[in-house]
Amino acid sequence: MQKRETWSSRTGFILAAVGSAIGLGNIWRFPYMAYDNGGGAFLIPYIIAMLTVGIPFMIMEFGLGHKFRGSAPRIFSSISRRWEWLGWFQMLVAFVISTYYVVVVGWAICYFIFSFTQAWGTSPSDFFFKDYLHLTGSPLDMGGFNWPILGATALAWVVSFIAVFSGVRGGVERLNKVFMPLLFLLVLAFIGRTLMLPGAAEGLQWLFRPDFSAIMNHQVWADAYGQIFYSLSIGFSIMLAYSSYLPKKSDINNNATMTVFINCGFSMLGGLMIFGVLGYMAVQKGVAVSEVVSSGVGLAFITLPTAINLMPMPVFFGVLFFLALTVAGMSSHVSLTEAVVSTIVDKLAMSRKGAASVVCGLGFLVSIAFTMGGGLLLLDIVDHFINNFGVLSCGLLEIIMISWFCKLDELQGHANATSEFSVGAIWQFCLRFVAPIMMTYMVVMNFYTDLNKNYGDYPDAAIMSFGWAILGVCLVLAFVVSSKEMAFAGHTGVNGNFLRRR
Ligand code: PFF
Repeated sequence: MQKRETWSSRTGFILAAVGSAIGLGNIWRFPYMAYDNGGGAFLIPYIIAMLTVGIPFMIMEFGLGHKFRGSAPRIFSSISRRWEWLGWFQMLVAFVISTYYVVVVGWAICYFIFSFTQAWGTSPSDFFFKDYLHLTGSPLDMGGFNWPILGATALAWVVSFIAVFSGVRGGVERLNKVFMPLLFLLVLAFIGRTLMLPGAAEGLQWLFRPDFSAIMNHQVWADAYGQIFYSLSIGFSIMLAYSSYLPKKSDINNNATMTVFINCGFSMLGGLMIFGVLGYMAVQKGVAVSEVVSSGVGLAFITLPTAINLMPMPVFFGVLFFLALTVAGMSSHVSLTEAVVSTIVDKLAMSRKGAASVVCGLGFLVSIAFTMGGGLLLLDIVDHFINNFGVLSCGLLEIIMISWFCKLDELQGHANATSEFSVGAIWQFCLRFVAPIMMTYMVVMNFYTDLNKNYGDYPDAAIMSFGWAILGVCLVLAFVVSSKEMAFAGHTGVNGNFLRRR
């Protein structure tokens, strides 16, 4: 077997892991989640979620990747061949995400250019939906090609392609070593100037004003765990792939803890950035912050441009914000691509260069659908189903398999052997009970909600084909590929008995 590539330094690995974790989610999801779920009081469930699931899960994934030195399907098949399908399912979920996540990065690239002239004009909402996206009325109506979006999406794919094609050290690590410091600089400069604006402090008060009654609400807890899970890129093959390139003598526990802390710290910066701006805008318009707050696509591409129009130095704020969004999204996209490529290299005996070409080429072709007139609606449905069912169930199955069907003591021993501090009974308790219980609750609630009512009131045909069917296809494909793999002689398992309960 060929020697596996490794990160060149500890910093390189941590920057890459942080680059994956910090993404659009930290900028457009966390601030709103916190605001909507009790403000400052949300930090209590959020920090508890970070300590009880975020860090333990990250340690588990880093430990598995480091021990088995392979991507998800290889890790799971090394433990038990019967579980290999889960690795493929995770990889397929990562692939689907990579095909639409990149389109949002493409929008950010375009808006970065627009922000030099505030090309969105005086009505950013009309501009975004009509002039820019050419949005159709239904996800079933694809509309026409949109060349600027297609071009920007192609550019983002090219960046990921170059990073992954050039290898772990020469590509992924090098990119993150530039992108992550740059991202922090951009965001700190943005915040530094924002906080001097009138109203910024009021915005932060809205964000952090604690509503302690929220802590009694179970939905707030589910949201906190969901946000931790989404934000850390855990449970769907990414962190497994990244940690599989750790050199033998690497720390596991402290690296995982640092990655989680840096990511969550960055989310707080995201909160300062967004709510500083919203506070300023509310004061300018003479309305309450609650009237201007939003999340997701609308926050980044409508609310922020609206605010930027009102700001002094609009070019400064616009360029900084959209460049930060691009950089944060790009480094996450590279990790999604790497997770898929490493699986193909490991399991299908393809070269890295060949696998990168196939994955990025195919990925780009699929992405075209999301760049067209109906793209935003399509993206909305696919993202909802992939996140609420795909990502969550991948993580839940993984944690159940590892914490209930494997010998956690051995994984603990492996992680502790090279780490700067040790984990023990509390770590195991979190993995066996807290994480599976919270995640089962979320998956069940999501099924209940989605089976009762069509998400976003989209037509049945759209929900069936772009929601349930895509999940179903991923699942079936995962089983087909793993059963073929099982029949394939020369299976590359690493020490099959490790971890497996007899
Ligand atoms: N953790 C990254 C983010 O918060 O944006 C990357 C990511 C997570 C992308 C989950 C997609 C996803 F479904």
